[in-house]
Amino acid sequence: MPAHRLLPVVVLLFCAAPTRAQPKLEPADFLLPDEAKMTPFKDRVPMVFVTSNQPEWKALAGFWTEGTRDDVDPATGAKVTRKVVKIKVPLGITQAPAVPAENPMTAEKWVLGKKLYYDEILSTDGTVACASCHSPAKGFSDGRRTSTGINSALGPINSPTVFNAAYNRFQFWDGRGSSLEDQAQGPVGNSKEMFGGKSDPWEEAVARLRANPGYVKAFNAVFGHAPTRDAAAKAVAAYERTVLLGDSLHDRAEALMRKRVTEEESGKFVLKAEDYAAALKAEFARKGPALADLGLTEKDAATADEFGKHLLNGRDLFFNKARCSNCHTGDTYTDHTFHNLGVGATKDGELPLDEFGRFLRLPTGHKDQSFVGAFKTPGVRGLLKTAPYMHSGDEKTLEQVVDFYDRGGNVNAWLDEKMRDTAAEAAYVKARAEGKPVDPSVRTYGPTKKPIIPLKLNLSAQEKADLVLFLKALNGDPLDPLVSDPAKFPK
Ligand code: HEC
Ligand code: HEC
Repeated sequence: MPAHRLLPVVVLLFCAAPTRAQPKLEPADFLLPDEAKMTPFKDRVPMVFVTSNQPEWKALAGFWTEGTRDDVDPATGAKVTRKVVKIKVPLGITQAPAVPAENPMTAEKWVLGKKLYYDEILSTDGTVACASCHSPAKGFSDGRRTSTGINSALGPINSPTVFNAAYNRFQFWDGRGSSLEDQAQGPVGNSKEMFGGKSDPWEEAVARLRANPGYVKAFNAVFGHAPTRDAAAKAVAAYERTVLLGDSLHDRAEALMRKRVTEEESGKFVLKAEDYAAALKAEFARKGPALADLGLTEKDAATADEFGKHLLNGRDLFFNKARCSNCHTGDTYTDHTFHNLGVGATKDGELPLDEFGRFLRLPTGHKDQSFVGAFKTPGVRGLLKTAPYMHSGDEKTLEQVVDFYDRGGNVNAWLDEKMRDTAAEAAYVKARAEGKPVDPSVRTYGPTKKPIIPLKLNLSAQEKADLVLFLKALNGDPLDPLVSDPAKFPK
């Protein structure tokens, strides 16, 4: 067709869709499943979480226990007995992670997700995997101040651990991720993490997966179609849901306490030094990893009673005087919200715009200035494996973290109310209004010259040491190798 006759057709096409073209189905993003391609229902192996408050928990031999279950095949109505994998949720974590209805856990999906997690195939040049920045050898983080990704690009922020991310209400330091499935799609398109390509990062990643016969086979078996972005995100999330950390010395002391109180019939479920000492003695007896966490060796066995007192003191500081549990609360020690501790503030008490954290992510029309400079409260299990700390990675040791809180964080105009000495601030305002002398070192902000006074904890050296000891007692036993050893897969 001559060009001059084609022109009106093209013009017509553009005129017919003056606003935007119809959204076209993106086969790289999602496909509908074809049951015929999937592993038959009777051979699919569901995974279920069993928590310590369920009777069968105690009897489970290990983290990953295979059993059987009677089901009804929805396609045929036939009764089938299927294999099932029971995941023993570690002591101290009383809830099973929530699993989205559209992404049920199966052993086959978990295996696929684990492979993807450790495979550099998701990065453009085949050099970076999820595990590069969330490595089991480094507490599912990377041990760096801020992460390094593709082409050695230095990222702006500290890599958080994947430990217990299954329980996060929000993902990322500023909460911009809503689920593990949602989060897992981010790094593949991030030029500081895994993407160094030219067109659409996920179209490229999916093309690489579709060129790999092993992955094509596995995606078909699990999802009933070729690799897609949706399915890859689901599989990775299924694996991450089993990166569970608990079973710390503190959890074991609590369990012993509950046993003791039940036997005493006193009804007073309160930890005593003797509970920590008993947990420690058991740890000495089994030569457990918590000894090294606390800086102990087998020769220190006689110090268990003395150590028990320090651990109890550390625990009491965490929950009372040092006010840590104001924000680090629940099984995974987070309130699932965001606070400004001033981590990103300058020495002059100013907060740069790129440190505005959660506030930047709030939808327009919902901006709440109490979230300026606020970052997500991270859990505090496994800390000995996940240094350095804070979203900036600025604090190298737990001692430094405790010193940071002891001085009340870093002053800035939006310092969280829980970090401030509001009584001292009120007294300051009153004195100033009455023309009385005020402390010249207090920083004031805005036209009203609002004073911000960080709440000092005034911890003694011994208290700081005991608090650090308690944090170390939250470290927890290593994960089952099936989860943490990249090369290990169930039979
Ligand atoms: C180059 C390093 C890097 C790579 C590669 C990477 N991540 Fe991350 N990850 C980070 C950093 C840094 C953050 C925090 C980013 C932020 O909060 O803005 C993060 C955040 C997360 C979080 C949120 C945790 C929380 O508590 O908020 C999860 C989960 C996670 N990554 C999983 C993954 C998965 C799955 C992959 C692979 C698809 C992956 N990451 C690849 C560095 C990396
Ligand atoms: C007002 C709420 C709040 C209080 C009180 C609080 N924290 Fe935090 N904690 C946070 C938030 C938010 C972060 C992350 C801050 C950031 O990076 O900007 C954090 C980070 C941490 C980290 C770093 C964890 C990591 O993976 O990087 C540790 C350790 C910690 N807190 C321990 C403590 C201890 C110990 C106390 C008591 C002395 C305490 N926190 C009191 C909210 C709080």
